[in-house]
Amino acid sequence: MDTITKVADDKSEALAARYGADALPPAGPWNETIGVMLGHRSVRSFLPTPVPEGTLETMIAAAQSASTSSNLQAWSVVVVSDPAKRRELARIAANQKHIEQCPLYMVFIADLSRLERIGTKHGSGTNGLPWTETFLVAAVDAALAAQNAVTAAESLGLSMVYIGAMRNDPQAVAKLLDLPPGAFGIFGLCIGYADPAAKAEVKPRLPQAAIVHRETYKQAGEAEHIARYDEVLGAFSRRQNMPTESWTARIKQRIAAITGREKMRPWLNALGFPLK
Ligand SMILES: Cc1cc2nc3c(=O)[nH]c(=O)nc-3n(C[C@H](O)[C@H](O)[C@H](O)COP(=O)(O)O)c2cc1C
Repeated sequence: MDTITKVADDKSEALAARYGADALPPAGPWNETIGVMLGHRSVRSFLPTPVPEGTLETMIAAAQSASTSSNLQAWSVVVVSDPAKRRELARIAANQKHIEQCPLYMVFIADLSRLERIGTKHGSGTNGLPWTETFLVAAVDAALAAQNAVTAAESLGLSMVYIGAMRNDPQAVAKLLDLPPGAFGIFGLCIGYADPAAKAEVKPRLPQAAIVHRETYKQAGEAEHIARYDEVLGAFSRRQNMPTESWTARIKQRIAAITGREKMRPWLNALGFPLK
């Protein structure tokens, strides 16, 4: 009985943190796994404490337990410990210090190179590999695997932040990690114990009504949902002493110009992804 009450309390707290107290979705089932997922927040400051022995292997087992398109398993991971390499990866990522600081850093690879090696070895042809579709398969596989690893890590009390800024210079990442053609460092992952001195609260998300459509996609009500979310996220940012511009302002800025990565297609072509 006690446990049920406790779980129910945690649930409303967790949902209020995720959506703001005024936008709670209706009650539904709940358990510890869901509690871990709703408690996620990115952390960018880590203690030097190493992750316990075997944690990497457990995270990888969780990652490999994710669904994978046609069981192709079109992803790999490079664990980077060498401080000089970390420094260079941090430089590529606009000097994000947590890349050097975190006890465990991995680069997730959208990896068609293994499939290519198999096709070449067996002389069975690799005509399906140059397609944009096959690249998407690898990208989706890598993301699903990584998120499983993240949930496993967070369930063990570890914290994390993804590093999309590996894509600031995919060729430099490929060179540093000795990636073969057809292997693309799609994002990094910092893992470790959060520095308690750094504040990291659960960041609210858009209300479910803005995201979930029934039967057909409907835009009615969207402006109100977004205006409300601007307020919720604004309050979050003030609590975190973060820049208090609205979500809308951030989105406007972000979609007006995407940070020098507009050359992604030729970059991918050069890395062995023709994207036909
Ligand atoms: C693929 C991906 C790449 C990301 N890249 C970075 C990054 O380079 N640096 C960073 O500080 N945060 C990065 N993030 C974290 C997001 O900014 C963060 O998830 C988002 O603001 C929501 O906050 P939350 O994770 O705390 O809920 C990335 C997240 C994803 C999913």
